[in-house]
Amino acid sequence: MKADDIRRAGMIGSGTMGAGFGLSFALAGMEAVLYDLDPRQLELGLDRIDRGLSLMVQEGQVEGRESDRVRSRISTTTDLEEAVRGSQYLLEAVPEVLELKKDLFPKLEGYAAPRTILASNTSALSITQIASACRRPDLVCGMHWFNPPELVPLVEVIPGRKTSPKTARTVYDLALKLDHVPIMVKKEAPGFVGNRMQLALFREAMHILEEGIAGPEEIDKAVKHSVGLRWSLLGPVEIADLGGLDTWGYVAEYLFPFLADNHQAPKVLTDLVSRGKLGVKTGEGFYSYSQEAGQEAVRRRDLYFLRQRRLVEEIKGS
Ligand SMILES: NC(=O)c1ccc[n+]([C@@H]2O[C@H](COP(=O)([O-])OP(=O)(O)OC[C@H]3O[C@@H](n4cnc5c(N)ncnc54)[C@H](O)[C@@H]3O)[C@@H](O)[C@H]2O)c1
Repeated sequence: MKADDIRRAGMIGSGTMGAGFGLSFALAGMEAVLYDLDPRQLELGLDRIDRGLSLMVQEGQVEGRESDRVRSRISTTTDLEEAVRGSQYLLEAVPEVLELKKDLFPKLEGYAAPRTILASNTSALSITQIASACRRPDLVCGMHWFNPPELVPLVEVIPGRKTSPKTARTVYDLALKLDHVPIMVKKEAPGFVGNRMQLALFREAMHILEEGIAGPEEIDKAVKHSVGLRWSLLGPVEIADLGGLDTWGYVAEYLFPFLADNHQAPKVLTDLVSRGKLGVKTGEGFYSYSQEAGQEAVRRRDLYFLRQRRLVEEIKGS
């Protein structure tokens, strides 16, 4: 199976991630079928897609008539067989529970045409284990996106121990066709690449908070107005090369002993969770949010990602 052979793709699980996948596939000209056990989730998914598309129209990234064509390529079903049959590609996004995914994959395989690729958006689980009950583990591969998937370009391609190089290549080429930026992860490792780095920074942010070095607002400002700004254009390795490796060597030698290296989730976080303070979705986390403020935070994030992506592409092209 080559990326260009994929004309219809099934999204297995249409929650936070699945709906955005459907939009990405439809924007790239493919048919997208959203499947979920829960019909309400399908409705919410379509609603999210409509809001995402109108933002793209508003920002001039998609024309009005094209937006109707994109929307017409997206359908929904609560019938697994209908989602799988006739799809050349399946992208699983059910909850992050190994047993659930391990049970689901052989079912997908049972309905799928022989060469259909079965991809999982797992954030951290082993692809080898997810594929362990499959007859054709060579066709199973990790394809890890970031939220919101239609706007964040990175896609990590993670071959399991039995994934064929051909399957991994097709997943990689498909990500390019979807106008995303793929990286091939060389070997399975929890958290792959992007989340390992994101969580390393989060651990240090929590450490700074617990040590009383700075509060949430100062921490967020420090990232948004310094390293975050750089990271949208340059990775940490490039930044070190530009800064001078001798300097980075001195700073690492001195600073590493002071940085967080805890192996448990930080107490400041688990305390909030145990009090039901889960962030935007419950109206309070490190900050407080009214319902409107929560929705506005999501809208601003999406708008910013859309504009920032255009800017980064312009700079790279110049
Ligand atoms: N949310 C994120 O930011 C994010 C980012 C990257 C990767 N992921 C990964 O993507 C996957 C999905 O995460 P999410 O945030 O979209 O979850 P979610 O809870 O928002 O959505 C999961 C959906 O799967 C449905 N579902 C549950 N069991 C099912 C089954 N057996 N068959 C079909 N549908 C079923 C649920 O009804 C729900 O709509 C997880 O593996 C997660 O780790 C999530």
